[in-house]
Amino acid sequence: MDYFNLFFLLCFSWKLFISNAHSSDSNQQPIPTEKLLVLTVATEETDGYLRFMQSANYFNYTIKVLGMGEEWRGGDVGRSIGGGQKVRLLKEAMEALTDQEDLVVLSVDSYDLLFAGGPEEILRKFQEANHKVLFAADGLIWPDKRLQEKYPSVRSGKRFLNSGGIIGYAPYVNKIVEQWNLHENDDDQLFYTKIYLDSFQRENLNIGLDHKSQIFQNLNGAIDEVLLKFGTKSARVRNTVYDTLPVVIHGNANTKMYLNYLGNYIPNAWNYERGCGVCDHNMVDLSQLQEYPTVMVGVFIEQPTPFLSQFFQRLVTLDYPKDKLNVFVHNNEVYHERHIQRFWEESKDVFNSFKVVGPEENLSQGQARNMGMGLCRKDPGCDFYLSMDTDVMLTNRQTLKILIEQNRKIIAPLVTRHGKLWSNFWGALSLDGYYARSEDYIDIVQSKRVGVWNIPYMAHIYLIKGEVLRNQLKERNHFVLEKLDPDMALCRHARELTNHREKDSPNPETFHMLRVPKGMFMYITNRHEFGRLISTASFNTSHYNSDLWQIFENPVDWKEKYIHPNYTRIFTENYLEEPCPDVFWFPVFTERACDELVEEMEHYGSWSGGSHEDKRITGGYETVPTDDIHMKQIGYDKEWLHFIREFISPVTLKVFSGYYTKGYAVMNFVVKYTPGRQAYLRPHHDSSTFTINVALNSKGTDFQGGGCRFHRYNCSVDSPRKGWSFMHPGRLTHLHEGLPTTNGTRYIAVSFIDP
Ligand SMILES: *[C@@H]1O[C@H](CO)[C@@H](O)[C@H](O)[C@H]1NC(C)=O
Ligand SMILES: *[C@@H]1O[C@H](CO)[C@@H](O)[C@H](O)[C@H]1NC(C)=O
Ligand SMILES: *[C@@H]1O[C@H](CO)[C@@H](O)[C@H](O)[C@H]1NC(C)=O
Ligand SMILES: *[C@@H]1O[C@H](CO)[C@@H](O)[C@H](O)[C@H]1NC(C)=O
Ligand SMILES: *[C@@H]1O[C@H](CO)[C@@H](O)[C@H](O)[C@H]1NC(C)=O
Ligand SMILES: *[C@@H]1O[C@H](CO)[C@@H](O)[C@H](O)[C@H]1NC(C)=O
Repeated sequence: MDYFNLFFLLCFSWKLFISNAHSSDSNQQPIPTEKLLVLTVATEETDGYLRFMQSANYFNYTIKVLGMGEEWRGGDVGRSIGGGQKVRLLKEAMEALTDQEDLVVLSVDSYDLLFAGGPEEILRKFQEANHKVLFAADGLIWPDKRLQEKYPSVRSGKRFLNSGGIIGYAPYVNKIVEQWNLHENDDDQLFYTKIYLDSFQRENLNIGLDHKSQIFQNLNGAIDEVLLKFGTKSARVRNTVYDTLPVVIHGNANTKMYLNYLGNYIPNAWNYERGCGVCDHNMVDLSQLQEYPTVMVGVFIEQPTPFLSQFFQRLVTLDYPKDKLNVFVHNNEVYHERHIQRFWEESKDVFNSFKVVGPEENLSQGQARNMGMGLCRKDPGCDFYLSMDTDVMLTNRQTLKILIEQNRKIIAPLVTRHGKLWSNFWGALSLDGYYARSEDYIDIVQSKRVGVWNIPYMAHIYLIKGEVLRNQLKERNHFVLEKLDPDMALCRHARELTNHREKDSPNPETFHMLRVPKGMFMYITNRHEFGRLISTASFNTSHYNSDLWQIFENPVDWKEKYIHPNYTRIFTENYLEEPCPDVFWFPVFTERACDELVEEMEHYGSWSGGSHEDKRITGGYETVPTDDIHMKQIGYDKEWLHFIREFISPVTLKVFSGYYTKGYAVMNFVVKYTPGRQAYLRPHHDSSTFTINVALNSKGTDFQGGGCRFHRYNCSVDSPRKGWSFMHPGRLTHLHEGLPTTNGTRYIAVSFIDP
């Protein structure tokens, strides 16, 4: 016999020996699933409890809930010692079950726990473990570190007992819990630990620990061990250290947020094949309601914000009955008072109510947000509170309805900065409570994963149920907490802190702060497109109409506000005219753009007067002077040139094909024609390859006369259209003149491009 064979034989017989030792198990019949009873303790139906039940129901577990409706007296579980109430409840429940010899009891927490697998799997793994009672195991010892030496050593796997999960035959579990005679706030884990460390009891009752997370995965201290694993029907957690697929996932201690993240997938919340499996749960159909819910809308202008009138416009055009909307505006900026005034004059009767608190109140942001939320809280008729910052541009008119129909306590629509990964939520938090990127953040922002996501932080816009404000969030000061910014303070209050007024407390003002694991879930939905976040960072309000300057910072909103709605049809439908040979005529500016540019120039006010001497140009002499103001004079030259490159160059390429403009221009100005000053311009050529000439106001209403005549073709355009531009060659062929303005004032914006 060579060594190889000897080795083989030895291994083989060792294997036989192993399987003999376990032969009793492998020959055993599987325990039928109806023999498994899950016992869990919950005193309230928290969001965590509901998630637990959802995962349990998905796998058809039989559950008995202990303690519902009882006041929680088990102490501050997770941060200090406590939990005796749980053992007492289990003891009482087990007394009624002792006669069921073959019943298997699984005792688990509920608020911070979910199932990743079903009863069959759990029972199979329990049988394989070959113990009568099996506890979850932990790599960290708690609560008494001095007991470490007493623990049996393990070669691999987790060594210490964790009482968050117990599975065992009913009579054996009963023999353990019947020993309980301590107080409600004594420590349950210490109680079980002492029994386990008593070697007589450990062997007699055949108690074991689930060292390798076959069944129980505690996340505390173990986040690095686990990975999400996607299957076709459901998602699970894989323990990569022991290569196991645990069934019970427990977000113990400070891992609640990580469990929330896992709960966005496990068991059937989301996977690649089917997308969101729980998004349609508990939806409300608004069309089935007698009446739409009443919503308090809190609008917060906490810093100078571009496109405020667009924000308000979108509020007015939300698809929701306006008599069900009460609007509260906090404006912290004197600059915006005239915008709000204008909006109020136009829309004061649109909403059920409209209240503004201005900068003179000198409210801090936290105070203002408390005030807005308080208006909903104290009004029993307020069904929802919608908080919106004015940097949120809701492009989806259905947003409010969609959020209400999703029926969550707190929910935000996903809004993102155009073309950026910046959004209004965080997928994870760093240890100090600030931003951390979750594995799925980018996929959610880019809507590669679509669903309703449980997240630790949201801001800018969110909807909260009024009843939540009057119950879980009934405290009045949610936006002020330590040095956190107001939204972080709110989220932290919702997530972790719950203020309990102690029952029968002699002093009704004493609030006992319990950090019990009953955080509220906050959701973000990306099931629809809702809108975007604009940038307020470099908004310079020193101009009269400062939005005009936002072409670089907020290009999408700039285009929407200032570029004519039919502009894009130039390219799709050839939407332009040629009133004279090689004079092209097309829509480019909105009325708003025209008005604001004229206002800006009149606000500046230093019109040149139209004399030949002109210090603004090189040489100082203008042969064909106009009464004008240069873009450069109002600090608008960079923006204007950008406008030419973005919006004029494409038209040039279309009508003068083969000519690629550099989009360069020195002479960019607004001309004013009026009978008292300069009413017309004599025939001339422009020092440009081509010229654009945009009408900034309307013939008939603002002035009479006006227009442009091209001599070579004996062709005039005498009815200029506001917001429309001419584009024509500047030299040689297109000698032209400005026809007299006979009454009123006419404004045009002109650029000599590629001089
Ligand atoms: C749970 O029970 C229902 C109804 O009996 C069944 O359709 C479903 O497949 C079961 N789910 C699982 C995960 O076994
Ligand atoms: C506004 O409030 C701040 C801080 O609360 C205070 O420092 C400041 O003096 C107040 N200003 C006015 C005008 O009341
Ligand atoms: C804002 O614009 C004005 C006028 O153009 C300029 O003087 C000022 O420096 C700008 N401020 C900032 C912070 O850019
Ligand atoms: C855009 O074009 C359509 C159809 O030609 C016209 O009815 C509409 O008034 C135009 N929009 C504006 C703002 O001029
Ligand atoms: C120019 O056109 C007008 C009519 O549009 C016509 O009356 C006039 O005779 C034309 N002049 C020349 C020089 O062709
Ligand atoms: C000039 O315009 C004013 C008002 O804008 C109007 O009252 C007046 O009648 C106009 N004059 C002529 C000659 O059209």
